[in-house]
Amino acid sequence: MGSIGKDGNSEHSTRFRLQDFADYKQRYQESISDVDFFWAQTTRQFLTYEKDFTSIRQGKLAEGNLQWFANGRLNAAYNCVHRHAEQDPSRIAIIYEGDEPDCGHSISYGELSKQIFQAAAALRNLGVRKGDRVCVYMPMIPEAFVTVLAINHLGAIHSLVFDGFSAQALGDRIRDAGAFLVVTADKSRRGGRDIPMKQTVDEALGSCPDVRTVLVYQHGQDSVSWNPGRDVWWHEVIDNTAPLKDIAPESMASEDPLFILYTSGSTGKPKGLVHSTAGFLTGAAATGHHVFDMHPSDVFFTPSDIGWITGLVYALYAPLLLGCTTVIFEGSPLHPTVSRLWDICDLHSVTHFYAAPTVIRLLRRFSDAEIHQAMTSLRVLGSIGEPIAPDVWDWYHRIVGKEKADLLDTYFQTETGSFVLAPLARITPTKPGSCTLPCLGLDPVILDPITGKEVETACPEGILAFRQPWPSMARTAWNDHQRFMDTYLNVYPGYYFTGDGARQDEDGYFWIKGRVDDVVNVSGHRLSTAEIEAALLECEFTAEVAVVGVGDSLTGEALVAFAVLKSQPPDRDVRKDLKQQVLKSIGSLAVPRTVYLVQDIPKTRSGKITRRILRKILADDVGSIGDISTVANPAAIDSVAATVLGSK
Ligand code: PRX
Repeated sequence: MGSIGKDGNSEHSTRFRLQDFADYKQRYQESISDVDFFWAQTTRQFLTYEKDFTSIRQGKLAEGNLQWFANGRLNAAYNCVHRHAEQDPSRIAIIYEGDEPDCGHSISYGELSKQIFQAAAALRNLGVRKGDRVCVYMPMIPEAFVTVLAINHLGAIHSLVFDGFSAQALGDRIRDAGAFLVVTADKSRRGGRDIPMKQTVDEALGSCPDVRTVLVYQHGQDSVSWNPGRDVWWHEVIDNTAPLKDIAPESMASEDPLFILYTSGSTGKPKGLVHSTAGFLTGAAATGHHVFDMHPSDVFFTPSDIGWITGLVYALYAPLLLGCTTVIFEGSPLHPTVSRLWDICDLHSVTHFYAAPTVIRLLRRFSDAEIHQAMTSLRVLGSIGEPIAPDVWDWYHRIVGKEKADLLDTYFQTETGSFVLAPLARITPTKPGSCTLPCLGLDPVILDPITGKEVETACPEGILAFRQPWPSMARTAWNDHQRFMDTYLNVYPGYYFTGDGARQDEDGYFWIKGRVDDVVNVSGHRLSTAEIEAALLECEFTAEVAVVGVGDSLTGEALVAFAVLKSQPPDRDVRKDLKQQVLKSIGSLAVPRTVYLVQDIPKTRSGKITRRILRKILADDVGSIGDISTVANPAAIDSVAATVLGSK
């Protein structure tokens, strides 16, 4: 891969920064009146192409065959790290904070680049080639970043799995992606506790006969079970590998897949969303620059894990693409004290802090007096993943941001790749609870859910959709393009369907109203009620089940399950067994808070569970259920209500 090219990449002199709100409005109009022109300019400003593209966009949104920047060639690891290492090797790329406050360290771009070359050489010796899928199941440690970037370096495809998923869920994802190599650590450490990881991988691999190798980073001291024909230690194969400069970053086509990330939808099985190389990187860099107003001197900190899209894009790709410093944190926000995150902000002069409202709600519960940190370096605060209530917004802005930092409520999805609706730091006047206005080059509309037509009224309300494509949107679901089409592009032909309800106010600001499908959001983690129901049905004694999300002041939403039993097994705590089943099938994050054993579950005549009614019962609001003419078994409403009430 050559040195930094001539197309505007010598520290990106052609990148513009918006001046003010009027500038945004004008540039926005220009950007959507010719999206192809806008994105062609944008990608050239932010990425270094080894070979420039010859076509901006091919294909149509409605046909699900989009290709951006065709015939261009580039490498993600080069763009994230090696090019910065060439220019300014001593600039800090990563600051790692371990679980305990005194066990962190930092890594420069030069050092990170070297580590990526070494890891790429080792992965290649283990058989990894362009296009292979590698599963990464690691704690938030620098080696997880090195692994992802080494996979990029080789042109392979990473599939990250969050360490809160169970062995069974991990196995499902490894098999679906067809990975033959898993990279993991012996353990993770969070909140003063060890979390076994290798052990979970061992269990998962019982159902993954195609996995030949497990590469294990030694993070702790204790011994772990070992399969000598399959397992290899990171320090034996990576640290002993000389930096092989001859393994150049693989030259990738713009549309070559960069990664797969699994996410829950309204049906049972999680989908492996596939993101492209050039398109995805363009979105990450452009939003980091325009929305977060990141500069290379900035220090960005999000406690989000890279197993979720927020951490992957905004802890890893965006800050590194822009040559900033990213702080990664393995531990828990409450350990060893409730002000751990604020200590990190002060210690490292963090300029950007980005977290889900669930973290903010958790920390708000403690006395403001405990927040003695100055946090004067903070310039931008961000919120993501769920609606942020105005009182939480106010606390975050006042106590954490000292009323000086801009607070951005950002909206995006695993599918959109990067922000689509978000205020721009320094620029956009905000309103607590609104994710404000579209990002440059994004063209949102509100659709009528019944007719599928754009709502033309002054303050439209309905389904949030997008009518023009953008480069960072997912291209397909791994091994299942039809499912991708049916979930996102065939619902309202000609539009990308988000699955969220939204309204626009008199200023055109967007207010997200939540999912219109069977997806729930617990502590900012996206879960499918259908997937949890499928897990509960794996219990031999369940006949029928339903899972709904209900409002929760800490976690945003909480899960409640209803189960009809075939028969009551003697001497068994069935509720506990059911929770255990979800723990085993999916992981701790999906375990219902409450399980009700009921006689029947209200359903429509076509057999669909009426979750709306179950939610009303849980809210003690049976009186406002309204029309029940579509319910096939209305008596079930009273019997469920009696069970719920009886348990209070
Ligand atoms: O319902 C929306 C909610 O999170 C969903 C996307 O979840 P996931 O793909 O896991 O990505 C989460 C982090 C990007 C959306 O469909 N969501 C995301 N951001 C917001 C939000 N809800 C309200 N306000 C937001 N800012």
